[in-house]
Amino acid sequence: MISNKDHENTIVCRCEDITLKEIRDLIKEGFKTVDEIKRISRCGMGPCQGRTCRQIVMGEIARTTGKDVSELRLSTFRAPTKNIKIGILAEAAEG
Ligand code: FES
Repeated sequence: MISNKDHENTIVCRCEDITLKEIRDLIKEGFKTVDEIKRISRCGMGPCQGRTCRQIVMGEIARTTGKDVSELRLSTFRAPTKNIKIGILAEAAEG
């Protein structure tokens, strides 16, 4: 049987190399929003801008606090949140 502890070395944020244990420890320390965890750990600040890890962190916060994920505040996003070619921006600026 796989225990909850067996998953603690699982990498949650591949961009910043942050484990589930690190996220759980931060939540235990009192960091209860995605933005707080992002600022203290850089989780969500990598090249994918949290597209991979944000939902996992929200799930851990929800599980720990007993809230539904829909009740949690979303983290802030920086544009562009999706890769776009620089030529498209240049054309838009010219047009
Ligand atoms: S996986 Fe966390 S920022 Fe990319």
